[in-house]
Amino acid sequence: MTTVLVTGGAGYVGSHNVLALINAGYDVVIFDNLSLGHSEIVEILKNQSAAGRVIDFLKGDLQNFQDINSAFEKFDISAVLHFAAFSQVAESVKNPQKYYFNNVYGTLNLLKAMIENNVMKIVFSSTAATYGEPEYIPIDEKHPQNPINPYGRTKLMIENIMDDYDSAYGLKSVRLRYFNVAGADTKSRIGEWHVPETHLIPNILKSTFSGGQRFKMFGTDYDTKDGTCIRDYINVEDLAKAHLLALKHLLNGGGTNFYNLGTNDGNSVKEVFRTCEDVTGKHIDVDVLERREGDPASLVADNKKSLSDLGWKPEKTLTDSVASAYAWEKIYQETLLNGELNKCH
Ligand code: UFG
Repeated sequence: MTTVLVTGGAGYVGSHNVLALINAGYDVVIFDNLSLGHSEIVEILKNQSAAGRVIDFLKGDLQNFQDINSAFEKFDISAVLHFAAFSQVAESVKNPQKYYFNNVYGTLNLLKAMIENNVMKIVFSSTAATYGEPEYIPIDEKHPQNPINPYGRTKLMIENIMDDYDSAYGLKSVRLRYFNVAGADTKSRIGEWHVPETHLIPNILKSTFSGGQRFKMFGTDYDTKDGTCIRDYINVEDLAKAHLLALKHLLNGGGTNFYNLGTNDGNSVKEVFRTCEDVTGKHIDVDVLERREGDPASLVADNKKSLSDLGWKPEKTLTDSVASAYAWEKIYQETLLNGELNKCH
């Protein structure tokens, strides 16, 4: 029996990884302060324990060393998957303190607890935002890391800290640099649930439901094939598979490394929009606005290193991601949204 601690396991990417872990035969301890994650997601995940594996939940905050240290004292943990973080670029510019305390200081506490409890393997949720404005496309792992906002800087600082901790203490890390994560669980048990939602696909889809805000397209004058920004949309279940491979690498005694998680391919905002119209079968209204501040024209991953080292190959298409996101959004609108609205009143 191998038990994995998943910080941020009640959030979007973390929760999909919890499902992948139990399906692969791991026991899981979710550690989450529920500031962005949802207790409803924890309940749904716990009901999946029927798959034969155990899911435990610890409510705690990484900024409190005792909270995270107690997770290691209570459970026999072999490795950590670390997702807990704030990840909104614009918010990080307005309130960098919130990001440095939560993301960097929180991770320092996590790593300290790991070292004190002799747990020396961690898979870390990093980001393409550590590269900053691309100097060339597709972006490989040798691309310079010059983040242009506090969010990206917190993630790069953590990557650097992990290198120092490997040299000094032998802590082994795999840092996975995500491009644009999309989609939901194929069985629609869980999905993307951010409040407020800032991401492209859920915002387009939400606009098709009654009470949804009209979709706003930010900028059509970029130097790209159709004037809108190009991003590399990586399916969340494909992404979770990469985490399993990275975990296996570490559990088998593998060393520190870092990989891009993307598809080698980009889609424009207009292409994503059309895919959403195709999948929903609806005409979707759109307001074209000015560019959103800080959006690079194009971000596409070179993912060859993850294929050659980890044997990871994304399988799902953009249409798959939009279809699963839409199926989840229907459930969210019919059931969970009511609870969300009640919380506000
Ligand atoms: N967009 C719209 N309308 C919306 C939302 C987004 O037109 O309502 C556009 C954006 O302007 C951008 C594209 O859709 O051109 C993608 O935007 P997202 O907000 O979905 O994603 P980002 O590329 O801005 O950011 C994502 C993650 C970040 C991470 C970054 C790294 O959300 O956490 O990728 O590349 F830092």
